[in-house]
Amino acid sequence: MKKRIGVLTGGGDCPGLNAVIRAVVRKSLEHEYEVLGVLEGWRGMLEGRWEPLDLDKVAGILPRGGTILFTSRTNPARRSDGIQRLIENFDKAGLYALITVGGDDTMSVARTLQQMGKNCVGVPKTIDNDLSGTDQTFGFDTAVNIAMEAIDRVHSTAEAHQRVMVVEVMGRDTGWIAVASGMAGGADLILIPEVPINLDEVFEVLQKRQRRGRAFSIVVVAEGAKLSEDGGAAHEVIQSERRDEFGHVQLGGIGPVLAREIEKRTGFETRVVILGHIQRGGSPTAFDRILATRFGVAAVELIHRGEFGRMVALRGREITSVPFSEALVTRRVDEELYKIASTFFG
Ligand code: F6P
Repeated sequence: MKKRIGVLTGGGDCPGLNAVIRAVVRKSLEHEYEVLGVLEGWRGMLEGRWEPLDLDKVAGILPRGGTILFTSRTNPARRSDGIQRLIENFDKAGLYALITVGGDDTMSVARTLQQMGKNCVGVPKTIDNDLSGTDQTFGFDTAVNIAMEAIDRVHSTAEAHQRVMVVEVMGRDTGWIAVASGMAGGADLILIPEVPINLDEVFEVLQKRQRRGRAFSIVVVAEGAKLSEDGGAAHEVIQSERRDEFGHVQLGGIGPVLAREIEKRTGFETRVVILGHIQRGGSPTAFDRILATRFGVAAVELIHRGEFGRMVALRGREITSVPFSEALVTRRVDEELYKIASTFFG
């Protein structure tokens, strides 16, 4: 009888998920594995919802954003019988192994399932690029390119009106998207969660530009950047206190807060652009399509070699793998990279 492997996509979607699914199905043919697509991340695994995947199902999906399997932020560990149900459904589906494509939340559940004796292999995904164990996650490059293009476009209108433009990008815990898109787009200031915002320094940078005859400025800020508005401890700006099942609040809104402060303190006319989910939508870049494809193929190879409890990873130019535990640590922006970016502030 053919061995059966499952694949699910969990957490926030990101460009390249379909490329992974396609690669898993194509590579599985080589080893004569049957593939089941589990629907809506861990929710499908809890509720026993999956469907067979074959060549027809994955035809034409390489350039498509989103995920044909749908996704959710369902956390089985939040239900008293959640992990038990995963185990039962793993057996009911007749799985030999499960490929979990996701970020740290998804990997944490995969690790638990692996500890309960069910074969799991991970593929790292997040536009935030903040998973340890891998040099890069797929989805990040696409998000950076979208944000860079937005910054490029904002330049001309900022210059025409001689305004400050604040561009808010995603990045819940880390500023990878802000730093990469800001550097690529020539931002005059980049603010990230790793370094609490010092408003006096922000004003000084903008005034310095004004003094040297640059009447417009572009400020890129990560949604998770922390600001102290009232002299108290620096904190994130929250859009909604409602927490998802992994305990995350909905961030967003640091851009308008910052713009207000800039206008108030410097007198410079300021506008805000919040890029939001535009950064996660649409077709993946060539880089992300290739990385996602390599990850998908590598995940099936890990299964074939019986190396479970591991996540595929990019190290330098090579695809390798690391234990799930390594992926559960948040990877902060490299200090050296931020220092290089700051050379161009002001
Ligand atoms: O984790 C990726 C991410 O895009 C974060 O940058 C952002 O804070 C979050 O997801 C948004 O999640 P949601 O799609 O649930 O609003």
